[in-house]
Amino acid sequence: MRTLVCGGAGYIGSHMARLLAAQGHEVVVLDDLSSGHAQAVQWGRLVEADVLHPPSLEEAFAGQRFDAVFHFCARSLVAESVARPYDYYATNVVGTLNLLEAMRRHEVRRLVFSSSASVFGQPATGMVDEDHPTQPINPYGASKLMVERILADAATAYGLDSVALRYFNAAGATADARIGESHACETHLIPNVLRSVLGDRLALKVFGGDYPTPDGTCIRDYVHVEDLAQAHLLALDYLGAHPGAHAFNLGNGRGFSVREVIAAASAVTGRAVPWEMAPRRAGDPAVLVASSRRAKAELGWSPTWTDLEAIIESAWRWHRAQPW
Ligand SMILES: NC(=O)c1ccc[n+]([C@@H]2O[C@H](COP(=O)([O-])OP(=O)(O)OC[C@H]3O[C@@H](n4cnc5c(N)ncnc54)[C@H](O)[C@@H]3O)[C@@H](O)[C@H]2O)c1
Repeated sequence: MRTLVCGGAGYIGSHMARLLAAQGHEVVVLDDLSSGHAQAVQWGRLVEADVLHPPSLEEAFAGQRFDAVFHFCARSLVAESVARPYDYYATNVVGTLNLLEAMRRHEVRRLVFSSSASVFGQPATGMVDEDHPTQPINPYGASKLMVERILADAATAYGLDSVALRYFNAAGATADARIGESHACETHLIPNVLRSVLGDRLALKVFGGDYPTPDGTCIRDYVHVEDLAQAHLLALDYLGAHPGAHAFNLGNGRGFSVREVIAAASAVTGRAVPWEMAPRRAGDPAVLVASSRRAKAELGWSPTWTDLEAIIESAWRWHRAQPW
């Protein structure tokens, strides 16, 4: 297959490009490098293009026929989305529409889209499955849900087949530490814990120690980035026999508290994690854990990285080596 990985210079997209290349597929990465890194594009050719600029998309599609598109490009900072909603709706919704229109014009009919647990908003239950109501509480989550709706309409109108994968918390890196998570503005817990250990940032802030959880800190579901990439390949296979627009939740199905992550990071690194307690942040649910039962049953997906320390260890190798 010839595949287009939009956002393939980013964290999850670069792991996707690697897996596709390892499976013998041709990879073209489309990215504007706004939050990604040219150094992460090690498998396939980089086309520098902005999804908000249709002529550059047209150039990327011209003269070659893609069998499938994997769409990772987005702005993904929740707090920033509240402060600058237009930017989020532009990149995440209008940018996706531009991409879909380029796909329609060039007759590319299969897409796997990076959605997010944020489409659920404040979950009413601990284990969130696909039947849980979608009620995003910030523009970031709303933008992802809007795209899911657009994909449903695109399936009906244009025969575009798609799978939206709602990741919970992506984590970890490849075993050889060639690529990993590197965000200029990092909001994710595991990289921030490891950066605290390395002294790259001030002491980690733990937002809230009075949640109704066993140790009072928030519980989240961490799914390894390689397991996520694998789910994309299975999702693409699934479309062969299941036309239409589909959505699946992807997580490990097991939650870990912030304190458990800190303890695991300390065990992995052999060092103390500098951290301090801070007040709760508005909008943080106490527990957010995926039920991936549907992805298991229908895609045949099962996370292989189930051990928290192993996930953190893979991230630690990357953070210690991080060349960029
Ligand atoms: N990391 C997570 O835990 C997580 C969880 C749920 C959902 N997601 C979603 O998964 C996707 C990938 O996340 P990530 O952590 O790898 O993010 P990332 O920021 O590392 O990667 C996104 C890539 O998209 C590119 N990009 C952004 N705007 C662009 C534009 N206008 N034109 C072209 N390229 C553009 C960036 O340069 C970057 O390389 C995003 O859609 C994100 O919302 C991530």
